[in-house]
Amino acid sequence: MSHVDEHEGTRRDFLYYATGGAGAVAAGAVVWPLVNQMNASADVKALASIRVNIADVQAGTQLTVKWRGKPVFIRRRTQDEIDAARAVPMADLPDQIARNDNRDATLDASDENRAMDENGEWLVMMGVCTHLGCVPLGDGAGDFGGWFCPCHGSHYDTSGRIRKGPAPENLPVPTAAFEGDAEIILG
Ligand code: FES
Repeated sequence: MSHVDEHEGTRRDFLYYATGGAGAVAAGAVVWPLVNQMNASADVKALASIRVNIADVQAGTQLTVKWRGKPVFIRRRTQDEIDAARAVPMADLPDQIARNDNRDATLDASDENRAMDENGEWLVMMGVCTHLGCVPLGDGAGDFGGWFCPCHGSHYDTSGRIRKGPAPENLPVPTAAFEGDAEIILG
């Protein structure tokens, strides 16, 4: 994907359904417009959790939401992205730990241990570079077709695993769960 496409994708793909916070998130060099939609039924839920509507997320696109003050990437991956992630030998990974709070976070960093679902269609990660906390660019950015942090040049693959650059760890996978077909609850 060209750089032009990446940037268009980054702007186009924001749908945001959450209970708190509105406006723009400024993080690193990237500023994201966020459209906020109040969800009355969620008001009674724990403040630390948010409910994200994923019904309109197409394969090959990513939703970015703000949760606990940080961006979270919710990507619906294409089969090519899944296949690429699952073909990587463990020995090629600088960080071989899953870092997935939904499972044993110390499992190995196979894509199966990081994706939300068995087929690997959904990948949910904190959008915070593990080097110094910039927000990586997505939509196929970087040398490994996943995410790229422009601050100091960290490249993440289609599973959000660090592959090249100064970041020491894979992008962490936060606690998240599906609710029906159309929603993910973070936290
Ligand atoms: S903060 Fe991402 S590479 Fe330094």
